[in-house]
Amino acid sequence: MSNIINARVTFHNSPIHILERFTFKDIDSAYEYFKEYSGLKECVILQTCNRVEVFGLSNDFNIQKIKKTWASLAGLEEVAFKENFEISENIDVYSHLLKLTSGLDSMVVGEEQILGQIKEAITNAREIRASGEYLNTLFDKAIRIGTRVRNSTGISKGSISVGSMAVKLAEENIDDLKSKKILLIGTGEAATMVAKSLNKRGYEFFVTSRTLDRSKAFAETVGGNPIGFEDVLSGFSNYDVLFVATIAPYFLVTFERIKEAMNDKKTGMMILDLSNPRTVDEKVTTIHGIKMMNLDQIAEIVDKNMRNRVNEKTYAEKIISEEISVLEAQMKRLEVEPVVKEIFKDIDTRRVKELEKALSMLGETDQEKIKIIEDLTKAVVEGIIAEPMNNIRRASEQSDEELLKAATKLFDYKKKASRFSKTHQTRIILLWMGFCS
Ligand SMILES: NC(=O)c1ccc[n+]([C@@H]2O[C@H](COP(=O)([O-])OP(=O)(O)OC[C@H]3O[C@@H](n4cnc5c(N)ncnc54)[C@H](OP(=O)(O)O)[C@@H]3O)[C@@H](O)[C@H]2O)c1
Repeated sequence: MSNIINARVTFHNSPIHILERFTFKDIDSAYEYFKEYSGLKECVILQTCNRVEVFGLSNDFNIQKIKKTWASLAGLEEVAFKENFEISENIDVYSHLLKLTSGLDSMVVGEEQILGQIKEAITNAREIRASGEYLNTLFDKAIRIGTRVRNSTGISKGSISVGSMAVKLAEENIDDLKSKKILLIGTGEAATMVAKSLNKRGYEFFVTSRTLDRSKAFAETVGGNPIGFEDVLSGFSNYDVLFVATIAPYFLVTFERIKEAMNDKKTGMMILDLSNPRTVDEKVTTIHGIKMMNLDQIAEIVDKNMRNRVNEKTYAEKIISEEISVLEAQMKRLEVEPVVKEIFKDIDTRRVKELEKALSMLGETDQEKIKIIEDLTKAVVEGIIAEPMNNIRRASEQSDEELLKAATKLFDYKKKASRFSKTHQTRIILLWMGFCS
């Protein structure tokens, strides 16, 4: 019996800087290793700034093998996986994936980005043939359901990222923001969210990163005026608003630097630190004229915003719980589909053989008559096998193992079944039970 599994480390139980340690630097070789060393027959990797997830199809699923492969790919010790490592199987994976595509598992509920990231993950896996019939079907259906959830609820409407909330907060707290000097420190994903929001609202800003080339490249694609990192650190007094979004493991914006800047400045300064861990020293709030907000405070406001949409979330969850049983039945049906196809093929081969024999005995050459006889054979065969085939599919959807076991005892039909797995054997027998009754 095939199992669909999901192993993950996400922002729910790992701060972003810890999560980063679990990422795969080379996705192609990650696919190769998971298939070769973890016994995954199919694999899809979803890697974003908030999560690293491995979806797989396995006959003999083994958590230790998955952890071992993951650890060696990420350059970690196996013990690095603690309570932050989550694992789900089958129906729990379907539920998790539907929450992902619907945006219910995101840091900002309903955000659109994750759906695009999931589409990209399955497209890549398909291209390099890491995924197959099971995961392709699962992801295609989950993407369709997620899109339906978003379209039929208000879950994604007006959803706001942490980046645009930070800009909104600056607008609310500072008079005439357009006339102020704005600086963005960081050129990664979080900084991109801030930059996009600043652009959308028509604010000019400076951007800096440790390497000027990176700031220049960022400015070309996302906007802003690039500026040298060292110049910035030694001259915060030039700015009225700072957005800080880096993964620096120490304070970039220190108490001393801000104190010095404020000595030279006549007006106040607002600092929005989106970094986790923080890269702005909280002590700066004790300096006169400084207003500061950190990621927790910004995220809390985003969350409050979301609570107004609590009904939408409940509605989205209701749709998902209805869709899960349908999805589960569709996935179970995949188990038996190769057998059904094989039997159709086998029976059709026999039909064609018998038809040719009969036509040769009749010596029939009239094409119209041949067509009538051929159609007759097809109609008889299809009429007989359609129902038992559907019975097999239904039995598979409903995991009706009792019925399948009874059929095994009643009909000792092993010749054909020996080509398939044990589970499949019982299902073939069921076919013949229907076929003969
Ligand atoms: N991505 C999100 O959705 C999101 C949401 C909320 C909060 N956050 C937080 O925002 C921060 C940045 O996340 P991210 O996703 O944008 O990361 P990222 O894409 O990896 O970008 C990291 C940024 O940090 C800079 N950086 C790295 N080491 C540095 C150092 N020692 N000194 C100064 N700058 C350094 C990098 O630029 P250089 O290497 O050129 O300096 C780059 O601009 C994190 O603390 C994260 O927790 C992220």
